[in-house]
Amino acid sequence: MLRDARLKGRGGRVSTTVTLLSAREGRETGQGTGVDLVASLDVGSPAGLAFILGAREDDDSLLYLNLAGSFADYEEHGPHTLIAGETGSGKGVLTQGLLLQMIAFNDPATAELILIDPKKGVDFGWLNGAPHMKQPIVTEVDAAASVFANLVVEMDARYQLLVDHGVPHIGAYNRNVSPEQRLSRIFLVHDELGAWMAQEKEYQEVVLSSVSALGMKARAAGIHLVLITQRADADAVPTRLRDNMGNRLCLKVQNSTGSRMVLDRRGAEKLLGKGHLACILANQATPPGQEFFVVQVPFAEFDDLQRLAAAVMAYWRGRT
Ligand SMILES: Nc1ncnc2c1ncn2[C@@H]1O[C@H](COP(=O)(O)OP(=O)(O)OP(=O)(O)O)[C@@H](O)[C@H]1O
Ligand SMILES: [Mg+2]
Repeated sequence: MLRDARLKGRGGRVSTTVTLLSAREGRETGQGTGVDLVASLDVGSPAGLAFILGAREDDDSLLYLNLAGSFADYEEHGPHTLIAGETGSGKGVLTQGLLLQMIAFNDPATAELILIDPKKGVDFGWLNGAPHMKQPIVTEVDAAASVFANLVVEMDARYQLLVDHGVPHIGAYNRNVSPEQRLSRIFLVHDELGAWMAQEKEYQEVVLSSVSALGMKARAAGIHLVLITQRADADAVPTRLRDNMGNRLCLKVQNSTGSRMVLDRRGAEKLLGKGHLACILANQATPPGQEFFVVQVPFAEFDDLQRLAAAVMAYWRGRT
């Protein structure tokens, strides 16, 4: 079964359409056939900050993560997102899908991507050359600590700017100033955060204090964290960190303790793996009688990812 999901732009001009994520032959999940999903999205769509998470298990509809504004009957969710799951659960596939949507639907002039990856960036080579990346993938812990520190400085500067202009958030600010003065949204995506958090005490301190600072004002300032961890324990994701991550995306974890760490409730230990996802989203009520949303994340082969990323980059090159 194929589903064609077309993001309805919020009144914006429709531009090139790319097939975002390719279909996968019916995957046996043990509960019938898994979800095959084809999403055709408009490149440069103004709905760029609504991210498809997957197809809901209860009614097959698409679940969105809305980082700015409500979209498709869902509320605006929290600014920051935690992604957790044991090895092979599908964190990489989920993250890459989100990154592809980020570069496909956001003008590089309005969105900036910073990637931190302790695994030397091998999973993200397909992003090289994306105009949203203003710096190479960060792969060293010291450089990563600077990224966090700089982000807090940037947030404070932005916040002061909002105060000076008497506006509540970046959206209102950008509407009030000339195009050259507009601020872009900044996305910091950090793979394998838990590994460094558990091993590097100094880094843990920097991350914790930065995330606490960013937790409060980052939404207004247009700064978004996406933190990914394989480990779901107190060393990798301390309470102070989790408390600031309003959107919790939990793939299969080893046990109910891990599930409670990520979602504040058990259940994610029973997921089937391979992109079977339980999540809670800030400001968003869960379906009646359920403690979290359960969705199947769409799958893209690496080749498809590369092909789609190349199409997206060619599109942006053609516009500048
Ligand atoms: N959404 C999905 N649909 C179908 N299969 C999937 C999905 N996500 C992951 N898989 C399958 O599981 C494999 C592992 O996924 P992935 O690399 O994303 O795991 P991971 O959680 O990042 O693991 P690690 O922690 O080891 O990096 C994929 O190669 C794919 O075969
Ligand atoms: Mg991975």
